[in-house]
Amino acid sequence: MKQSVDLHSFHEKLDRNNLGPLWASIHDLNTIEPKARPIPYLWKRELIEKHLEEAEDLLQVGDGADRRAVFLINPGMKDLIPYGWGGATHTLYAAVQAVKPGEIAPAHRHTTTALRFIMKGEGGSGRVNGEKIPFEPGDYLITPTWTWHDHTNQGEETIMWMDCLDVPFTLFMNVCFTEFYPEKQQELLVPDDYSSKRYQGGMVRPISDRSPSIAPLGRYKWELTQKGLDGLSEFEPDPFDGYAIEYINPSTGKDANNRIGARMQKLPPKFFGKAHRHVHSNVYHVFKGSGYTVMNGVKFEWSEGDFFVIPPWVWHEHVNLSETEDALLFSTNDLPIMEAFDFERKEEYRENGGSQIITEVFVPIEE
Ligand SMILES: [Fe+2]
Ligand SMILES: [Fe+2]
Repeated sequence: MKQSVDLHSFHEKLDRNNLGPLWASIHDLNTIEPKARPIPYLWKRELIEKHLEEAEDLLQVGDGADRRAVFLINPGMKDLIPYGWGGATHTLYAAVQAVKPGEIAPAHRHTTTALRFIMKGEGGSGRVNGEKIPFEPGDYLITPTWTWHDHTNQGEETIMWMDCLDVPFTLFMNVCFTEFYPEKQQELLVPDDYSSKRYQGGMVRPISDRSPSIAPLGRYKWELTQKGLDGLSEFEPDPFDGYAIEYINPSTGKDANNRIGARMQKLPPKFFGKAHRHVHSNVYHVFKGSGYTVMNGVKFEWSEGDFFVIPPWVWHEHVNLSETEDALLFSTNDLPIMEAFDFERKEEYRENGGSQIITEVFVPIEE
């Protein structure tokens, strides 16, 4: 006993001297499995949009607010300063942004890398590194690291989109830089929709693009994504993810955004996905349809416009109960980071025929 008291005071002495005893810490530092900060969670569309509408009345974009966006804070990360590190998961920030007719979200650039998925509203466009890029609902857009970007709405209705950035990862890496453009909008340097036009052939690239320094395509139109899903749908679905495609950089075949992966997946009517888990985390946005996802035995019911997150190493399976309607899920992930550092691994759920037993139903905040 005397020895353990001595050991305890020795540990305290080490701590006072900013040193640590590995023999007492190793099991917390090298865990048997990941102990993720973020928890499985879901935000209802109504909750986010109601608060975003309130922000529409309270602040004007370009006049006091650079961006009008409400971001998701994972309850498991809420105590991290500042603002839960803006984490929907430990690596990914996700938000819904609204731009009213006539507003301009001013130009800036940052080392965080960004992508957008247009949820609703016509007449929106952005400028990215000197190119004007118009967009419509269903389009997927990227703003690679350190590229100037601003957004505007020349239509007649409010435009909303999902933003996803690697904010928590960038904070953790201590590598965040931001710079503001001297004017509200950046100068246009190339013809409008330049990158889409250069890549409209799909599976061919301009000969100058064998090794581009940044991703050469900024906009992925919904009609092309839909075509990709239609082609796949002639065959058997993936047992875990249904019909799922990834947005790629057409010059390299790698992820469109080099630090954040993005997918569109279709769960056909009566699709009961099998459960699996993986190290990479996901932020999901329900683009169309309804259904549910079971995460570690808890049922998360979702419908159009909702968001939910799958943290690392959490068992999950997706279900579409509809007899007639597809469910379309847009999602982002940190797979590019996990693969770059050889962290990725996955496992199939073998018990109970590959389906988890539901022990609880998640009750979302409806305030
Ligand atoms: Fe930005
Ligand atoms: Fe998965």
